[in-house]
Amino acid sequence: MSKTKDNDISVEKYNFCGHTLSITMFKGSSLGLSAYVWGPAVVLCKYFQDQKIDFTGKKVLELGSGTGLVGILVALLGGHVTITDVSETLEQIEYNVDANIPVTSKHRSKVRALYWGTDHHDYPSDFDFILGSDIVYSPPQFPNIVETLLHCSNENTTIFFCTNMVARMGARDFHDEVIPKKFDSDHVFTDGAISIYKITRKCAS
Ligand SMILES: C[S@@+](CC[C@H](N)C(=O)[O-])C[C@H]1O[C@@H](n2cnc3c(N)ncnc32)[C@H](O)[C@@H]1O
Repeated sequence: MSKTKDNDISVEKYNFCGHTLSITMFKGSSLGLSAYVWGPAVVLCKYFQDQKIDFTGKKVLELGSGTGLVGILVALLGGHVTITDVSETLEQIEYNVDANIPVTSKHRSKVRALYWGTDHHDYPSDFDFILGSDIVYSPPQFPNIVETLLHCSNENTTIFFCTNMVARMGARDFHDEVIPKKFDSDHVFTDGAISIYKITRKCAS
């Protein structure tokens, strides 16, 4: 990974799955947490690389994307990706999409606002994958995240969440108590404090 800095903007390069991604962070803006690539985003990308997850032709939704890193990688791997966050963050994501996804693959990525618990009704329910890196940190948002997951998923959807279990408030409660009420959840990977969960809808009995 290499880094250049120019006052308000910093650029980092990442290598995954044979792709070099150049991610620009608008740190001088008022984007707060969104203006950084967080550890769980990097761990999730590395997991996709190591596990050789096949996103070719798959319909993918990323929640709380921040800089766009995870969604952009998945688009480069052949997924049809809807990269979402709050509206203030979309300019940063669009910048990174333009910088990293070749024109010939642009039709496979969309950048749109999705506020958890509010906007999901504008989205379909047939995603093959839903991804969330470092979006579990605010307990008042947990019911909204669950509501959005329930709307956007079906029994064939695989959800990957990558969460810092130590640094983020309520992370253990979310993964051990909140999610298992509505979903089956497997803890599939750990890297220090960061854990990846593979989550699917509970089968109707
Ligand atoms: C800690 S950052 C993680 C960013 C990125 N996924 C990463 O791992 O680098 C959390 C992201 O969730 C987004 N977010 C927070 N509350 C949200 C909400 N209610 N609806 C949608 N996105 C939200 C933030 O804008 C931010 O981009």
